[in-house]
Amino acid sequence: MALPLVIATWRFPQKTLNHLATHAQVVCWESDCPVTREWLLEHVPEAEGLCCLLTDQIDEDVLQLGKQLRVISTMSVGYDHIDIPTCTARHILVGYTPGILTETTADLAFTLLMAAARRIVEGADYVRQGHWKEWKPNLLLGQDIFGTTLGIVGFGRIGQAVAQRAQGFGMKVLAVRSPRQDHEDMEAGGVVEIHNHESSNTPPVTFVDLPTVLMQSDFVSLHVPLTSDTHHLMGMSEFDVMKPSSILINTSRGAVVDPSALYQALQQGIIGAAALDVTDPEPLPVSHPLLTLPNCLVIPHLGSASTATRSLMADMAVENVIAGLRGERLPNCVNPEVYQ
Ligand code: DGY
Repeated sequence: MALPLVIATWRFPQKTLNHLATHAQVVCWESDCPVTREWLLEHVPEAEGLCCLLTDQIDEDVLQLGKQLRVISTMSVGYDHIDIPTCTARHILVGYTPGILTETTADLAFTLLMAAARRIVEGADYVRQGHWKEWKPNLLLGQDIFGTTLGIVGFGRIGQAVAQRAQGFGMKVLAVRSPRQDHEDMEAGGVVEIHNHESSNTPPVTFVDLPTVLMQSDFVSLHVPLTSDTHHLMGMSEFDVMKPSSILINTSRGAVVDPSALYQALQQGIIGAAALDVTDPEPLPVSHPLLTLPNCLVIPHLGSASTATRSLMADMAVENVIAGLRGERLPNCVNPEVYQ
């Protein structure tokens, strides 16, 4: 019997690909650049499985053509690039890769926090550009991390892992679980003091609403998924209530922050600095105004980018697609309601 066709918008590591090839005929986009729309639309009509990346828009047009699709597997924890309601309506299972990238992404969020606080990139540039001629008492002064307050917006797996790291730095942790919801549920400015332990190794956290996190934190780290509720969650009215010294860290999705408002807030000193792993648009063009600001550190969406984690993500993505083709439960499924 012919094996089902799986198309993949990137080339999996050979070992992972060999495993997938025992269950499916596999056609991969072979280039290192993102898949072209033409390639995707040309190949999806025959495919029963689709392995994609967070850069691929799996929208109505793709799903319309993909009449044979039974399973879509993204190698990411975020799935805002996939039209989930349409997949569910068409009984297409969607797999994703939660959990395995939590610690790696939390490491990166904390790396950005520290790099921005202590002006590490500016310091490295200063040396490379030959400006380091003597030691000066007021050269590139940054901000302390130990003993300050960290505000975590979105207290899921990654937010909790960032809170654990903050504990080692003696930080007070404020968190907002689900920004819009908490905002509605609490009186403006109200604080609900819940010294909560989400799991046995989660440090004490005080849950407050978004305005309180913004007003009281020295660092604000974003960990919400991108949805219609969180799109441009951080705009001018949010920056306006933050401390002028505060540092924003974003490792979630670029569009959670309004980039024009962020530019103004950084340029006018409304907030102190920003460190961004994700941007809107992404990639950020080199001519973008944010890149003219010394207090804005931007890196190219490296949250889960360790060799070990990316390899685990590839394996998990392949396990999801294989399970879908075999009519089994996906180990990690976005829309389990399809089974009902
Ligand atoms: C994800 O998996 O959604 C991350 O953004 C990748 O780093």
